[in-house]
Amino acid sequence: MERLQYNRDEHAAEVVAAHYGRQPAAYVRSFGCQQNVNDTERLVGVLLDLGYAMVDSPQQADLVLFNTCAVREHAEQRVYGNLGALKALKQKRNGVLIGLCGCMGVEKTTIDKLRESYPFVDIVLGTNAADQLPSMLVEKMTTRKKALRVPPIGDEQLTEGVPLVRQSSYRAFLPITFGCDNYCSYCIVPYVRGRERSRTSADILAEFKGLVDAGYKEITLLGQNVNSYGKGNDEKMDFSDLLALLCTEAPGDYKLRFMTSHPKDATRKMIDTICAYPQLCNHLHLPVQSGSNEILALMNRRYTAEDYLGLIRYAKEQCPEMTFSSDIMVGYPGETEADFEKTMELVREVGYTQLFTFIYSKRPGTAAAEQPDLTDHKAKADRIQRLLDLQEEMVAGICTPWTGRVFTGLVEDAGRTEGTMQARLDNNMLVEFAAQPGCEGSFVDLKITGVRGAMLDGVTV
Ligand code: 5AD
Ligand code: SF4
Repeated sequence: MERLQYNRDEHAAEVVAAHYGRQPAAYVRSFGCQQNVNDTERLVGVLLDLGYAMVDSPQQADLVLFNTCAVREHAEQRVYGNLGALKALKQKRNGVLIGLCGCMGVEKTTIDKLRESYPFVDIVLGTNAADQLPSMLVEKMTTRKKALRVPPIGDEQLTEGVPLVRQSSYRAFLPITFGCDNYCSYCIVPYVRGRERSRTSADILAEFKGLVDAGYKEITLLGQNVNSYGKGNDEKMDFSDLLALLCTEAPGDYKLRFMTSHPKDATRKMIDTICAYPQLCNHLHLPVQSGSNEILALMNRRYTAEDYLGLIRYAKEQCPEMTFSSDIMVGYPGETEADFEKTMELVREVGYTQLFTFIYSKRPGTAAAEQPDLTDHKAKADRIQRLLDLQEEMVAGICTPWTGRVFTGLVEDAGRTEGTMQARLDNNMLVEFAAQPGCEGSFVDLKITGVRGAMLDGVTV
């Protein structure tokens, strides 16, 4: 694999300055997951490097970039809806440049659709491609070409040192791997984010130390499958070793999280490591997708419900305080009522504090897209509802006994009601409590007073 180092493109900065004759403004919007948000932070970093100032709305911008998500059809429709709204802007101000970046930018279906229905889009960039933005802008500004093109997704490439501007001063994302090699049969990610590449532990540690020194209080390591970290690297370091390295080499007053774990690669060693370091949170997001072994095999997940439950049981034994969350997909092609019942059984057995539920969405180009999908939408919607009802009951059962206990949380945002703030506990639960804005990014001790759906109520002590 080729490791590249980002260098500021002086020529591009000059072209941009000459093109506008004043400081230009850019607007970037993220439509996707944490990885997408982190990619957006890099797009912003590169734009500032090129001399742009960032603005809060497309109306004020000379350059509008949408950083897109392709994981479900619904995510793509949201992007198209928002793109449509830019047509009027382009008609009003012809000089404004519009770009589509991220996962959708790699799909052929997107390119066809842009040509047909959104010809006003000027540039298309793939995933992890912030370092290619300067040359694309130069091409657009110096030629009359419609620079609509998809650069290669950089399968065998990893660029370090791309500048980035973080959205928060106390919460940070830190990618440890890029891409995915798992090819779950429903998933578009391996096709749009390319082959799995791990950063070196030295590069990760240097960025991590920088965040701890800068006072970041919550650092989340990112990867499509963090548990396969190191695969293909020369270093003899697995994911648990990396966690231990970060905790020992950069001690401090922060919380360390990670996502996403893949059950086929998650190990007991990782659970032991979580237990060994107080910075590591008592929470594991371990997407199971389904409780049926037949469906898991069709999904190419390469574990069984029994394997999964074995790891959860071990985690509960080692760390009784640990909480679990999961992604569950309903209505995978061929899923029967009996398969779905197995998912319900698994959810009852694990006892998740949070569930992210999705109805299967056919993604052209994936293996599952070739399988007939005979279950009607009503049956799928009904299954999702039963799952949500069960989850509501489960979370109340898990959290109600916490009433009266004191937990430490990191204040994140304003609460849903006036005069309240939200804090995230070590176990990833959110607590709403009476407080005024201004305390974001500090740790508070909170006594739990009640449970409201997926949210806890608390008071400061
Ligand atoms: N349809 C529905 N949900 C999907 N996910 C991934 N691909 C699809 C799809 N084609 C869900 C999985 C994954 C989460 C991030 O998104 O549950 O864990
Ligand atoms: Fe998609 Fe599976 Fe890779 Fe996750 S592990 S990104 S679900 S292919």
